[in-house]
Amino acid sequence: MKNSDSFFLTTPIYYVNDMPHIGHAYTTILADVLARYHRARGADTFFLTGVDEHGQKVQQAASSAGITPQEHCDRMVVHFREAWEKLGINYDFFIRTTDQFHIDAVRQVLQNLYDRGEIYQHEYGGYYCVGCERFYTQKELVDGKCPQHLKAPDFIKEKNYFFRMSKYQDWLVDYIQKNPDFIQPESRKNEVLGFLKNPLSDLCISRPKARLSWGIELPFDAEYVTYVWFDALLNYLTAIGYPNDLKRFEHWWPANYHLIGKDIVTTHCVYWPTILKAIGLPLPKTIFAHGWWMIDETKMSKSLKNIVKPLDLVDVYGVDSVRYFLMRDMMLGQDANFSEEIFIKRYNSELANDFGNLASRVVTLIKRNFTAIPEAAQPGNDEIEIQVSARKLPQTTHQLISELRVTEALEGIITFVRSINKYMEVRQPWQLVKTDKTEAGTVLYTALESLRLAATLLEPVMPTKIKELLSILPVDEQKQEFAWGRIKSGATIEQIPILFPRIDKSVKTSAEPPSAPLKKEEPLITIDDFAKVKLTTATVLTVEKVPDATKLLKLTIDLGTEKRQIVAGIAEHYSPEQLIGKTIIVVANLQPVTIRGIKSEGMLLAAKKDGKLTLLSSIDSIEPGAKIS
Ligand code: MSP
Repeated sequence: MKNSDSFFLTTPIYYVNDMPHIGHAYTTILADVLARYHRARGADTFFLTGVDEHGQKVQQAASSAGITPQEHCDRMVVHFREAWEKLGINYDFFIRTTDQFHIDAVRQVLQNLYDRGEIYQHEYGGYYCVGCERFYTQKELVDGKCPQHLKAPDFIKEKNYFFRMSKYQDWLVDYIQKNPDFIQPESRKNEVLGFLKNPLSDLCISRPKARLSWGIELPFDAEYVTYVWFDALLNYLTAIGYPNDLKRFEHWWPANYHLIGKDIVTTHCVYWPTILKAIGLPLPKTIFAHGWWMIDETKMSKSLKNIVKPLDLVDVYGVDSVRYFLMRDMMLGQDANFSEEIFIKRYNSELANDFGNLASRVVTLIKRNFTAIPEAAQPGNDEIEIQVSARKLPQTTHQLISELRVTEALEGIITFVRSINKYMEVRQPWQLVKTDKTEAGTVLYTALESLRLAATLLEPVMPTKIKELLSILPVDEQKQEFAWGRIKSGATIEQIPILFPRIDKSVKTSAEPPSAPLKKEEPLITIDDFAKVKLTTATVLTVEKVPDATKLLKLTIDLGTEKRQIVAGIAEHYSPEQLIGKTIIVVANLQPVTIRGIKSEGMLLAAKKDGKLTLLSSIDSIEPGAKIS
């Protein structure tokens, strides 16, 4: 029986057709950070990650490399293990779906479901995207293409085995509504409920061996292997002992968190709960879907050839700052933009300036003016105020972390660090030592103890550097980690190394790997190129939401000489009421496209930065149809 202190969290298992990039690294670091926080609070924690090795993509990659799929997997898995080691990932188990125990367990589950009539054979035709390794219905395609990979999938008709997913539709809707923590954040939950408004079909779980041989053979039909998602999702159970070691399994299940990216919400929030229901197991407590790391507003992915490899960054800037940046810059559930410039800005301002400076300043002043760590002999109002915030900080940080608001937790810690820098500026201990050494000692002790506390809270995010720093700070082991006053007055302190040296943007980092440019060169265009684009002002006449599309609005606009209909991905930023009557700027000579079955005859212009989007308009009022040059 799972007790309240057992904490089981998982990452997706990654396809081995791809090298690990910062998208994969993000989820894995997030899981590692959470696992470290929960271990530190004393929870019995199990952190599972691994690789998804079966399927058409792997079979294709292996055959183009002229090796067997198993050889391909054996080579690729090394990159993931190495990446996680270099990124300081402290997982408890790394599963491979080619592990024999997993294969056996999947076959047992399949046989059981088949025997109970949950799986049946049927002929089916559908659009199959190899990138997603799943079928799409025509309605789900955008302009006939897979919405994730922007490629037209193949139409495939064949006999297959199906899991009776459809019969669980009403139960699932009810479950999601009654368990508000099940899918997080809220926006993803609404997306899933929107998806479930359409009838749910049964889930194809097999491939004929003639088309795909690299999979787990069905126990009840040797001509077929199981479909990649059925095999992959079950890793969350098999890795902790299901179905043969139920004692171990029940210690951990249900999972506290499945961490996933928003690209695999349907498989985790629709397929997975229905599979679990059919098996007869409780559902995970929370499935948390984070946003995407984007480059120039486009999702980072192998197929789009715009990936940033985490290890290239680590080689240049060090593991702790990469971990800090990824955790700090992606807000709960939203997309985040990656660029080396944003990285350096964050690094210089928070790690080099705020945190690094406080550390070297305080230790240097103590060493220069005292033979040992001074006492806080005369705490006044300022010191009492700091102690009050210092007492609250661990509590707020842990609360935010437990709600997966890691960005805000880090913001809180760094704001505290900034307040200590400010306190130093106001109290000027370097001047005070000349007039009142006791008072200067009080200020320096307070700052050093605050630094220790902030460092302790940052340790799960930056384990290497913080460990280095904490090992230099002498503490009273009798006192608790987060208790005020743990630093030992009277003990000597060593000089600390510079933790985060400032990065000078004008100096090109020599270690920057030529194979992985972190920033792409912008191609230049001529005035003639620009003249091809017809930009005009337009007035918004009507606006409606596009059904079942969280991001899309359908607008009718007046171009002065004619009315047009356009579909724009701005629903998360503007409500229809905010737009009606506004003058906007549109590209008027764009080839029409069909989005979700709706014709769009133009494109509106908007500016986007750090997730915030603003429609472009004119400063003074102007008639619709004015040409912009
Ligand atoms: N094998 C499946 C998952 C099976 S889980 C039972 C799969 N693998 S994947 O290699 O494509 O990795 C998907 C996961 O990698 C995403 O859900 C996300 O966690 C992470 N990311 C991949 N690209 C990403 C970004 N650009 N940004 C953030 N994370 C993304 O799907």
